[in-house]
Amino acid sequence: MMRRAKISVIGAGNIGGECARSIAMKELGDVVLLDIPYTDEARKNLHMPKGKALDLACCGPVENFDASITGTFDYKDIEGSDVIIVTAGMPRKPGMSRDDLVSINAGIVKNVAENIKKYAPGAIVIVVSNPLDAMVYVMWKVTGFPAHRVLGQAGALDVARYKTFLAMELGVSVEDIQGLLLGGHGDDMVPLPRLTSVNGIPVSDLLPADKIQACVERAKVGGGEVVKLMGTSAWYAPSAGTIEMVEAIVRDKKRVIPSAAFCDSEFGVAKSNGGKGLFVGVPCVLGAKGVEKILTFKMNEQEQKFMDESISHVKDLIGATVKLFPELA
Ligand code: NAI
Ligand code: 2OP
Repeated sequence: MMRRAKISVIGAGNIGGECARSIAMKELGDVVLLDIPYTDEARKNLHMPKGKALDLACCGPVENFDASITGTFDYKDIEGSDVIIVTAGMPRKPGMSRDDLVSINAGIVKNVAENIKKYAPGAIVIVVSNPLDAMVYVMWKVTGFPAHRVLGQAGALDVARYKTFLAMELGVSVEDIQGLLLGGHGDDMVPLPRLTSVNGIPVSDLLPADKIQACVERAKVGGGEVVKLMGTSAWYAPSAGTIEMVEAIVRDKKRVIPSAAFCDSEFGVAKSNGGKGLFVGVPCVLGAKGVEKILTFKMNEQEQKFMDESISHVKDLIGATVKLFPELA
């Protein structure tokens, strides 16, 4: 008899709740939803995740899923997790960049990582909290897990936005757009029009360059567009991207999904980071072991220049994080 996967979601806010719902709907495993509120005042009621889990569990008979969903504020309940999704931390408000979140979220993610190390030392950890690439670094540094078990969700979302905008422009199904995007989860992420096609037809044969560029630019600031409209950051598409990664791992699908993974020589990362590797978005083969492989290819000069700029931004974010917590150097 096969045991159901145990998937813990840390942070039961907008993204965490939606991830829990999708895991159950797709029957990817049993869910533990853990949350610790930000403020002392809010900490007077630690039971919110229990309420959210109960509400979600009652979708089961309607949606026809068999998955247990439990809520908790006790890290003991994440013991034995196969996969952990980390969404704990403040989202962006209008006018804020993802980087403004370092000072709040680095401490939160550090605390989450200490607990994961203690209670679920065998888990594969997918970080979602922003600023993404630096928070993945914090998770890796604090847990000491092998790099293939620590990754970040950004590319799955960013490339989904890129494909959505292209499909709107072309008037074709989103299912028929193939595309790739690299780099950090910042406005300097690197969509790659050269490698974008509609069922193999180069997108440059179907759309004029200025229209393609408009989709590239809109994808880069896609997160900000939603923040301006909603007053907080997106959660449906970020959750969908995260669950795509979770599914690839628990079903051992070997999907190729752009994810923040530890790179060394790949894409010239160490070269543009003073000889040191770092976590940044690259095409990863995701399976039961986590990041099973990073797929590389030759970039042209301009793509490499954009990638170097994005890497340099990630490097600055890690610098800002280490300034707050020198022990993470
Ligand atoms: P939210 O505020 O709705 O949920 C965050 C939850 O984390 C809250 O319920 C809060 O109580 C909890 N929390 C705070 N400190 C905690 C701690 N120490 N331990 C456990 N839980 C804690 O925020 P939302 O919208 O779900 O976003 C979560 C994070 O994801 C934010 O940092 C946001 O910027 C980021 N994000 C990342 C994206 C990506 O593609 N990587 C896309 C969109 C948002
Ligand atoms: C997003 O891309 C703000 O990271 C968040 O929606």
